[in-house]
Amino acid sequence: MKKLFLTAVTAFFMLNVSAQTDANMGIIPAPASVVKTAGYFTVGDNVVISALPTNRGIAQTIKEFLLSKGVTAKIVSAKMPLKASEKVIVLWNDSDNKLPAEGYNISIKGNRIVLQGKEAGLFYAMQSFLQLFPSEKINGTYTIPNVVINDYPRFSYRGLHLDVGRHFFPLSFIKKYIDVMAAYKLNNFHWHLTEDQGWRIEIKKYPKLTEVGGSRNGTIIGNFPGSGGTDNEVYKGYYTQAEAKEIVAYAAARYINVIPEIELPGHSSAAIAAYPELSCFPDRDTPIAVNAPWSGSRSGKQVQQTWGVFDDIFVPSENTFKFLEDVLDEVIAIFPSKYIHIGGDEAPKKYWKESEFCQQLIKEKGLKDEHELQSYFIQRIEKYLNNKGRSIIGWDEILEGGLAPNATVMSWRGEKGGIEAAKQNHDVLMTPSTNGLYFDHKQSLAEDEPLTIGRNGKGFAPYAKVYNYDPVPSVLTEDQKKYIKGVQANLWTEYIETPSKVEYMLFPRVYALAEIAWTPLAKKDLKNFSEERLSLHLSKLDKTGTNYWIPTAVGQPEKEVVGENHVITLKTPIIGAKIFYTLDGYRPSENAAEYTTPLNINVPQGKKKVLKTIVITPSGKRSVVAETVLNNGATTEAKVK
Ligand code: ACM
Repeated sequence: MKKLFLTAVTAFFMLNVSAQTDANMGIIPAPASVVKTAGYFTVGDNVVISALPTNRGIAQTIKEFLLSKGVTAKIVSAKMPLKASEKVIVLWNDSDNKLPAEGYNISIKGNRIVLQGKEAGLFYAMQSFLQLFPSEKINGTYTIPNVVINDYPRFSYRGLHLDVGRHFFPLSFIKKYIDVMAAYKLNNFHWHLTEDQGWRIEIKKYPKLTEVGGSRNGTIIGNFPGSGGTDNEVYKGYYTQAEAKEIVAYAAARYINVIPEIELPGHSSAAIAAYPELSCFPDRDTPIAVNAPWSGSRSGKQVQQTWGVFDDIFVPSENTFKFLEDVLDEVIAIFPSKYIHIGGDEAPKKYWKESEFCQQLIKEKGLKDEHELQSYFIQRIEKYLNNKGRSIIGWDEILEGGLAPNATVMSWRGEKGGIEAAKQNHDVLMTPSTNGLYFDHKQSLAEDEPLTIGRNGKGFAPYAKVYNYDPVPSVLTEDQKKYIKGVQANLWTEYIETPSKVEYMLFPRVYALAEIAWTPLAKKDLKNFSEERLSLHLSKLDKTGTNYWIPTAVGQPEKEVVGENHVITLKTPIIGAKIFYTLDGYRPSENAAEYTTPLNINVPQGKKKVLKTIVITPSGKRSVVAETVLNNGATTEAKVK
């Protein structure tokens, strides 16, 4: 009797923290529809996976996943007759084209688990199945409630970007990044390959791009602008064409398109260092960033060592166009992507204003100013790529001076550019830095956060901000809204030197990105996301070697709260994590009081107290320290007690 009771308690506890009790079955991004029905599928050792030869890859992944859970499954041909009594996972192609593009169904009932979809859809069905699979056994078996899931994406473009110019990341890590994208149904990897601080893709016709442009003589220490000084250490790296092709194939096998970005006309210092004739002024020394309080130059043409924006940009000469066309020829031979990103952002016009050649060109072409010259530049490149069957994406500055006729606009300086482009009937990808989609921004305002871009409270992007963003601006008409093709988050790496820090900046915000990119608006639910599913996904991560930002205690007020008596109820953000707290001003650790029941805190009249908490996960990882001021009429100067 006692044993039975304990088992029931254990089962209850397990169910309380499992994907099976969650309304979305623990799946991120939340599916369009999840309907649970009575009964359970129990997974024993005699599971059979029934698949056509074309679905062998998916069948094999499921088989290996089950094996990692201690379940041995057998793959059989879809042509084999199945006994009603057999437990079967059926992979079923949607050959009638009934499902929306990338859509899928999962049906779990009796002895059958049916995953249905075509190509990407079936792959996504598998991803959802892997996520809904129980983390723990109950009474010795894995138990999945019967359920019908119908799912499809809100947006056709679901993007994630990585800047490998400022810091370079090894191929193995790029694959890991792509694996994360695949698991969360993101389908476009925007690979930012060229920058002022490094050219990172081999171009056979111009070997100096990587020999010279792929290497810098130092890197700024600490926050830009600093003093202009650097660490004086050589920093280099690039991907060979064979490696880039390997990434393209790896991504394609996971239904991810790779969009290369070749920046023009700005952010081109590395290319100019390799081939100075690409500058308006080949003999001028390399200027140091324009938006810094100090000025100066480094001798000759150099790959930049500090962050920021630089005046030395491509000269719009025939030599430059020939160079760019040659580069793009090699790029399109590597990347089958319909879209090629050509940058277009942050191109100061100082050199073009000072250059006799540019001023003459403006006159010759009947252009109004340097902005129209930039538009001329972009339009020439667009025409070249359109003739090769490709389309361009550009940052929202490409609106200035007139949009190239077929360009897609990536709106990063807020939503304004995207709104304007949609009004001009151009496709738009939303990635506004103002709405949490710049994952290089910090995730909390705690002093413990590592060095990030943006100081003094600027650039704060917690996951809830990402989650709350709707990529379709309400100011657009229904017709104009159709031009919003999707959403993307960007990971600029000025302050991100290692794969581990990329992971810290990525998780858990990438989950919120996946949900705003995939889940129907009506199904978005921050509470369910942050209190149910996030903890499941993070607790899985916690068991691996992957780094992540540990959310602070759920329920802790972010802002000062006023009053005498406070009842504070907290929840751990990760299964099995502990919360420790102090009220004496000291920094909490495992030596502080452990939170177990709601805190009743009394603050005497005229005083304030500060609640400080830290979350420590089962693997020993620590969150930043979160602080809440509880104020009962204290003036700001009053000593905190
Ligand atoms: C950008 O962040 N400069 C596109």
